[in-house]
Amino acid sequence: MAIIAPSVLSANFANLEADIEMINNSEADWFHVDVMDGVFVPNISFGFPVIKALKKFAKKPLDVHLMIVEPDKYTQAFKEAGADLLSVHIEACPHLHRNIQNIKSHGMKAGVAINPHTNISLLENVIADIDLVCLMSVNPGFGGQKFIKHTYIKCAELKEMILKANANCLIEIDGGVNEITGPQLLSAGADVLVAGNYVFASDKPSQTIQALKQMRPNTTSMH
Ligand code: DX5
Ligand code: ZN
Repeated sequence: MAIIAPSVLSANFANLEADIEMINNSEADWFHVDVMDGVFVPNISFGFPVIKALKKFAKKPLDVHLMIVEPDKYTQAFKEAGADLLSVHIEACPHLHRNIQNIKSHGMKAGVAINPHTNISLLENVIADIDLVCLMSVNPGFGGQKFIKHTYIKCAELKEMILKANANCLIEIDGGVNEITGPQLLSAGADVLVAGNYVFASDKPSQTIQALKQMRPNTTSMH
């Protein structure tokens, strides 16, 4: 069964507590928390005060996705704000191995996020060291974008890499997850499904989360 991580980016920031409670009471497993700096991505989301507020009410782990340059500068601050899992972008980290060790030394799980254009072969030398790969299925920066279909192939190849390395690393898919892409992603080996727009634009977010949780791999073609 997939781990479901609703993305808070699409929540109602004027009443965040209500959406946090909805996620607490739903079948969701994690909170997906998108941090954007306006430099690495062309958008700015939120920072430490919002994450701290979230942590106060959240009864499930915070999966924090950093879309920022120089993420290593803030590892400790994200730990203090309440991150349980911290993902940094491979494209933002010239010293990725060091960054991963730093995250782990702060007692968090370490993830690496990878953009649609970046070849997953670049993960080969760290795959055994990390807890999660956040495979971007849209260009990061905004919720509600169209799913990039090449992700299916990348996901299946990444799964192969993980199995070959005998690594203990989850594959998380981020962007455009819905009732069509979800089952196909599960059949390609995805372990964690992030969903923002699909959950929060639906009439009954809690039921949409339940539907995601009940999704099973699709055995037919990947189109
Ligand atoms: C995109 C973010 C995603 C986003 C996913 O930059 O990293 O987590 O919230 O949104 P949806 O599910 O709406 O595509
Ligand atoms: Zn994200």
